[in-house]
Amino acid sequence: MENRLTSRIIGTGSCLPENVVTNDDLSKIMDTSDEWISSRTGIRKRHLVKEETTAGMSIEAGKRALQQAGVSPEELDLIVVGTLTGDYITPSTACEVQAGLGAINATAFDINAACSGFIFGLQTVNAYISAGMCKTALVIGAETLSKIVDWNDRSTCVLFGDGAGAAVVKADTMGVLACDHGSDGAKGMYLAGLNRTNNNPLIQTDKALQYVQMDGQEVYKFAVSTVPASIQKVLDQAGLAPEDIKYYVLHQANLRILQSVAKRLKVPMDRFPISLDHCGNISAGSVPILLDEVNQKGMLQKGDKIIMSGFGGGLTWGTCLIEW
Ligand code: UT7
Repeated sequence: MENRLTSRIIGTGSCLPENVVTNDDLSKIMDTSDEWISSRTGIRKRHLVKEETTAGMSIEAGKRALQQAGVSPEELDLIVVGTLTGDYITPSTACEVQAGLGAINATAFDINAACSGFIFGLQTVNAYISAGMCKTALVIGAETLSKIVDWNDRSTCVLFGDGAGAAVVKADTMGVLACDHGSDGAKGMYLAGLNRTNNNPLIQTDKALQYVQMDGQEVYKFAVSTVPASIQKVLDQAGLAPEDIKYYVLHQANLRILQSVAKRLKVPMDRFPISLDHCGNISAGSVPILLDEVNQKGMLQKGDKIIMSGFGGGLTWGTCLIEW
């Protein structure tokens, strides 16, 4: 019987803004402290854009991933970007990436699934590949969250960072082994930011633009229950045990969430690579940036089993078990 096609990641890349902001830097402009931020979250610093854009960082991350994969932009037939902070409403960030890379043969679109954006992107690409609709794709997770957080709200603005991560994905007989995904829109307002107010002069509206607001404790409760269950589902689908997984590359929202997931799965924390200490929470960017860090450090060998999981706004969650 012919093997069903799946998707293998053959190259990764990332791009972070130059400007690094420490917890001490933040404590000079608001009522916070390194002690509060690092003990509650594990975050010590983050990169925040000055001139960089979501598309610009995505293009750079994409170039690096293509170079590592040895794939030319013309070979790409699909580009999917997970982001909620594209530079324009239209064109999509993915179309900007297509133009920036010269990927003239690619179809390009964005996915807005907040912190699950990269995983939903990878799962979409995998579905296209399995259906025979494309062969070589670029999946990106990228954000400039510093533009949509409320800098007067210390309970959210200290958590987030900016950046982009990318993966080149190719049709293969081995790669994505199992997927889980879900959404709970009824809880969407636990992590929400209004896009635009009505600018129609005939209608009276509150002109104030709203920024991202989060009920941290509710999102925390959602994460520590949903993520281990989603991981268990992909393990069950693949007939694997938690200890068979070399690395758990999880969305970087809070160190305590990662510790809780590790405890539930009974695997040591050294299987959970961390980037939130130096990057903060980059929403859709967290997973691919961390995957690239792990890859660039030479920590991955062919055949390794890796679980990637994103969770957050929507509310949404998505998990992929891949073989490297
Ligand atoms: O990426 C999407 C997914 N997001 C997540 O998974 C986030 C999940 N949630 C969390 O990680 C945590 O809930 C937070 C880190 C966001 C917050 O931690 P917490 O332990 O839930 O703190 P809290 O919101 O209950 O606030 C505790 C106290 C409050 O003071 P009072 O009312 O107890 O006097 C806050 O006003 O800490 C205060 N506080 C701060 N103090 C210093 C809130 N933010 C700060 C701050 N600096 N930046």
